[in-house]
Amino acid sequence: MPRRHVYPNGERRFGIRKSFAPSWQSLACLKKAHMTRGIKIEGRPVWAEVSLAAISRNLRTIRKHIGPQPKILAVVKSNAYGLGAVPVSKALQKAGADWFGVTCSNEGIELREAGIRKPILVLTGFWPGEEKRFIANALTPCVTRLEDVRLLERAAKSARGKSRLKFHLKINTGMNRLGILPSEITAFAGALADSSRIELQGTFTHFASAEDFSARQTDDQEQLFRECLDRLRELGISPGIVHMANSGAICARPSTFADMVRPGAIIYGYYQSFDPPQKGQEVRDRLPVEPSLSLRARIITLRDLPPGQPVGYSAKFVTERPTRIAVINAGYADGILRQRTNRGCALVRGRRVSLVGAISMDLTTLDVTDVPEVALGDIVTIYGRDGNAEIKVSDVAREIGTVTSDLLCALGRRVPRYYL
Ligand SMILES: Cc1ncc(COP(=O)(O)O)c(C=O)c1O
Repeated sequence: MPRRHVYPNGERRFGIRKSFAPSWQSLACLKKAHMTRGIKIEGRPVWAEVSLAAISRNLRTIRKHIGPQPKILAVVKSNAYGLGAVPVSKALQKAGADWFGVTCSNEGIELREAGIRKPILVLTGFWPGEEKRFIANALTPCVTRLEDVRLLERAAKSARGKSRLKFHLKINTGMNRLGILPSEITAFAGALADSSRIELQGTFTHFASAEDFSARQTDDQEQLFRECLDRLRELGISPGIVHMANSGAICARPSTFADMVRPGAIIYGYYQSFDPPQKGQEVRDRLPVEPSLSLRARIITLRDLPPGQPVGYSAKFVTERPTRIAVINAGYADGILRQRTNRGCALVRGRRVSLVGAISMDLTTLDVTDVPEVALGDIVTIYGRDGNAEIKVSDVAREIGTVTSDLLCALGRRVPRYYL
């Protein structure tokens, strides 16, 4: 049986698409060579390889790191950070994820329709009118404003379910985006006391800068959150499942593990940038996760240019020597951010080559002058391993001053994903 290919645009439907599917044989070569020299693409030659094996191992590594007690809520919002919510969640369900976290009811419904049975928390609240979709699809809503309590109670009443609707409470401890204020806890308790059809199942907060050890913000947030939990208890309310740790906190702040942790980036194999940077090395040693994404394309044109020739839109690059330019069929619509214009590298035949000229929507140009025997059809690795060389998404993120999740989510819809 070949592995499944997920159509980049098929939000829910997925299956094997013969013309795109790699053969078993090619997958075997891929494992050996750490790249897909054998994948046969009958179409635009740009593709992503997502290692479900690495993602599953990462979950198990996180489990080992946090110990047996805390539950793990795998954050698979935004199409599992661009990698494919359905195949990724299925793999994580098998590997032992206890909960899933998504951003809206549509994302939750996609997982339910694909057969995910574990609890799903919709992390960013709900829009008035959306409540009934939570009930119909067994999704767990969050209260992020006091007004939400009344809306959930009303929806639960009109659904006339046998059991009470469970929800989580989000408390704003300093991120200042979503969540009720600590000063609103008494009012929340009052609203809850007036509600008979809903039940507080969990209480959480979200850290703004968990990987920053040069400032006190996370310690302050944690302390304030604990005071809020105490206040709830004083008011006779059990906070239920207490959770706060995202990837940065899971890596380096064990006091935040509580009853559940919410890893996103580290599940996919990527760390945030820690401050101070030596903290990052400590984290990598203690919690070694493996990158799960490779992004590759083939050279579709080679062109030899004399010195003084402009390349690409707005002549952002001008050759200074006799230069061999390779063109690949992948641009910013595929996930190579435009900020990488004249910046950074890709791999060809195991060597680093520079991206030159403006990244355009569908095409990118590279200087391959120094790659002996470079040929039309050669594989270019934008992220991933080629021989002994590797480019990690997190390295590129650091290079252009963004976060890994930004790059992962930029992976274009039209890029076919192969699950290995
Ligand atoms: C509420 C919440 N928890 C956890 C996460 C996971 O964050 P990370 O990818 O840093 O682990 C996110 C992602 O933004 C989030 O919004």
